Amino acid sequence: MLGNFSYCNPTKLYFGEGSLKYLNDELSKYGEKVMLVYGGGSIKKNGIYDQVMSILKTHKKTVFEDAGVMPNPTVEKLYEGCKIAKDNSVDLILAVGGGSVCDYAKAVSVSAYCESDPWKKYYLKMEDVNNKIIPVGCVLTMVGTGSEMNGGAVITNHEQKLKIGHVFGENVFPKFSILDPKFTYTLPKYQMIAGIYDIMNHITEQYFSGEDDNTSDYIMEGLLRSLIHSSKIAMKNPEDYEARSNIMWIATWALNTLVAKGKATDWMVHMIGQSVGAFTDATHGMTLSAVSLAYYRYICPFGLSKFKRFAVNVWSVDPNGKTDEQIAAEGLSRMEEYMRGLGLVMNLTELGVTENMIDVIAEKTLIMDGGYKVLSKYEVADILKSSM
Ligand code: NZQ
Ligand code: ZN
Repeated sequence: MLGNFSYCNPTKLYFGEGSLKYLNDELSKYGEKVMLVYGGGSIKKNGIYDQVMSILKTHKKTVFEDAGVMPNPTVEKLYEGCKIAKDNSVDLILAVGGGSVCDYAKAVSVSAYCESDPWKKYYLKMEDVNNKIIPVGCVLTMVGTGSEMNGGAVITNHEQKLKIGHVFGENVFPKFSILDPKFTYTLPKYQMIAGIYDIMNHITEQYFSGEDDNTSDYIMEGLLRSLIHSSKIAMKNPEDYEARSNIMWIATWALNTLVAKGKATDWMVHMIGQSVGAFTDATHGMTLSAVSLAYYRYICPFGLSKFKRFAVNVWSVDPNGKTDEQIAAEGLSRMEEYMRGLGLVMNLTELGVTENMIDVIAEKTLIMDGGYKVLSKYEVADILKSSM
């Protein structure tokens, strides 16, 4: 491992069936005003809302509800949340939902007391926080983003056709997160598999970068093998606790900053996927699955030895009697077969992208330089075309 780094993850996790009871321990650490943030109503249908409210009541908290956080939370919703948080001087933001709800809670936590426009400050100018931060806690109901243990907060601005993630520092990470795998049982299959692919892509984004012998790459190969194994079980039986709990735990480790330490990372699939998301508002994981294979097949020659290693160590391709190119290609074919088996969206047309949108999606794609090939906007457009 050649990179230097510091490492600290301040989020306290409570993991496993029944872990919501630990909300009792956490609530006693904060003041009486709690802002309860949630999405479009799934938590009311599956009973999680009632369970959380009953614990809040036991602790005599005054609850300010902020419902209706949409998938891919918008900047307009962010302004609304900031007003609720600031007007009521809330002591804690409790997010109950998936990545969108957790991301939004973090965005509100840094924006409520921001003296300038938070969209401009944090998303267009990428400035650091220099105002009061409201503590955030999460009760996770959807697995994939890793938002429960990181500083990411992705916000969409439909008017400007931009979907941007700000990765905040440790001071913005959730103070605690409660992960009960059973809370994810009511997820529709479409969301479950989108989340599974989001996890896979978080790992490959960090794996396909760098040339050094790095412990993180070995950890990621293990995480990927476990994910492939458990996701096949969860597909057949979504209520297999062992499989769902493994998937939940892999999601957290895939993006809680550990495996990125001391190495370069890529993130171009996410950059292209986010630009697609800004134009289509499509489900995050599906924007990634739709463009991934075209991207990886394009950059494979530039990182051939890593793609060969991926094929052998993750997809168990037998390397005997084959060229490096053949081994790498076989790995990506196995990945494609796996993705089709899950039922992921494999093209952009299905997400509502049309030919005349390609150049502008490419134009709005942020180019990162950590992967095996720094792309031009023309190359992004070609990858988008191949993904139609
Ligand atoms: O809104 P509700 O009614 O809760 O329904 C949600 C939503 O429709 C539903 N859902 C969640 N838990 C459920 C459930 N339905 C039934 N039962 C349950 N237990 O699922 C739908 C999707 O939820 P959402 O939170 O949008 O999904 P996800 O967790 O994939 O989050 C996506 C957002 O996270 C961002 C994405 O860009 C996107 O905006 N990301 C955040 C990252 C981070 N913080 O590091 C990194 C990721 O790469 C990603 O960009
Ligand atoms: Zn993602």
